[in-house]
Amino acid sequence: MRRPLFAGNWKLNLLKAGAIDLVSALRKGLEGEKRAEVLVCPTFTAIGAVAEAVKGSEIAVGGQDLYWQDSGAFTGEVSGPMLADLGCRYVIVGHSERRQFFGDTDETVGKKLRAAQKSGLEPIVCVGERLDERERGVMREVVGRQVDGALGGLTKDELKRLTVAYEPVWAIGTGKVASPEQAQEVHAFIRERLRGLSDETTAREVRILYGGSVNPENVRGLMEKPDVNGALVGGASLKAETFLKIVRS
Ligand code: PGA
Repeated sequence: MRRPLFAGNWKLNLLKAGAIDLVSALRKGLEGEKRAEVLVCPTFTAIGAVAEAVKGSEIAVGGQDLYWQDSGAFTGEVSGPMLADLGCRYVIVGHSERRQFFGDTDETVGKKLRAAQKSGLEPIVCVGERLDERERGVMREVVGRQVDGALGGLTKDELKRLTVAYEPVWAIGTGKVASPEQAQEVHAFIRERLRGLSDETTAREVRILYGGSVNPENVRGLMEKPDVNGALVGGASLKAETFLKIVRS
């Protein structure tokens, strides 16, 4: 199993100066930290500055989305080679906010993750059910379809070069975190699904992060669960002190 990953998703926040301040404080606070891998995903406009600021440290930088074509007449988009060129190692794909507000589907998420890997980036593929889907008892159908829809057809090697993030939509930005038991149940289900797409060894090597209202108080209980291999953190990643507490947990 790879090292746990703690990823900060800064979403549409922070101008360049604020982004540099935040990542510089993280850099200082994480000196010598080898147990976990730490990633920050700034807005596109701050990626270059943040990548400069972490040079020589272990902090990785990632994008929050990408387009699947490398270049061309696609106004407003950003491609995998462009993110790699700025120093990104990771990219988030299929975040529920992209699915909800910007039309991402399992099919486009699949294209994006393949484009990311082709550019040498590791995709973090987000899946998760909405509250009404959980209440209707179709959580497994929804998450299963998202996993198969985006990851189906990948080789074992390709599966090993990605991370999955389980982010129940009802827990994102709401303060309503999934209980460790709820998270473990879905993470185990996702791993089972990965096993179906590959084999036991491959499924065990894929990191599955939990995301949705993670904070310094609830992270430890989540991380104690066997199939939770890190966290994708939104709101609590915007303050160095809280994000550092989460990583040190
Ligand atoms: P949150 O966001 O931690 O603010 O709930 C998580 C996410 O959207 O990745």
